[in-house]
Amino acid sequence: MRIQKLRKSYNNKTVLQLEDFCFEADRIYAVVGTNGCGKSTLARILAAVLPPDKGSLILGREDYQISYMPQKSYGFQMQALKNVLLPCPKDASRKQQALDYMQALGILELAQQPGHRLSGGETARVALARTLMSDGNFLILDEPTAAMDMQSTLAAEKLIREYQQEKHCLVLLVTHSIKQAERLADELLFFQEGQLVEAGPCREMLQAPRDPRTRIFLDFYSST
Ligand SMILES: Nc1ncnc2c1ncn2[C@@H]1O[C@H](COP(=O)(O)OP(=O)(O)O)[C@@H](O)[C@H]1O
Ligand SMILES: [Mg+2]
Repeated sequence: MRIQKLRKSYNNKTVLQLEDFCFEADRIYAVVGTNGCGKSTLARILAAVLPPDKGSLILGREDYQISYMPQKSYGFQMQALKNVLLPCPKDASRKQQALDYMQALGILELAQQPGHRLSGGETARVALARTLMSDGNFLILDEPTAAMDMQSTLAAEKLIREYQQEKHCLVLLVTHSIKQAERLADELLFFQEGQLVEAGPCREMLQAPRDPRTRIFLDFYSST
């Protein structure tokens, strides 16, 4: 998946500008940066729910199937299990998979609860399970654990890792947690004011950031 000269503006203000970047299959990319730096805009453009003003995405392979979890999780007004089964409502053979994901995320006991009455963290776990049920090989997760407590966060990370390892898929994980990036990601991308400041292997970049702006960001956020 290659990005070329991507640009998005709102009200004449450029919120994302990316010259050229190539995402390799079978890797987890963490996108980090402060609020408003364009992370969700990038996620939306890659998920094809937001058109860029300029630029192109070159898929590189024809069988990319995107599974996208937006930053705002939504619980539909039906049982949580039915929420999770939404990508494949008529396929009874997927029910066990849905229950397995719910168990892995600690929400099995909520299966019969109405989706719109769940708490923020519960809704996020339902949304993650639902996203995985659509079986994509390009997973785009926008701050999937931001509303979750630590135990749920670690369970979600374990499930994301297992999913990636089983499918050898490409994962784009937007996160504001450097610790989470360190636990999960192969590659790290640091954005500031809509620009990609630095990208590289996660461990290397955390240990020895090249750009002074990355250094300042990591000094401030690396313990979170
Ligand atoms: N629909 C919109 N209309 C106007 N401004 C927007 C819209 N969506 C996002 N923005 C602005 O674009 C910038 C980047 O937003 P976003 O990508 O959501 O940031 P992040 O996810 O990194 O916090 C922010 O300044 C935000 O206010
Ligand atoms: Mg965002």
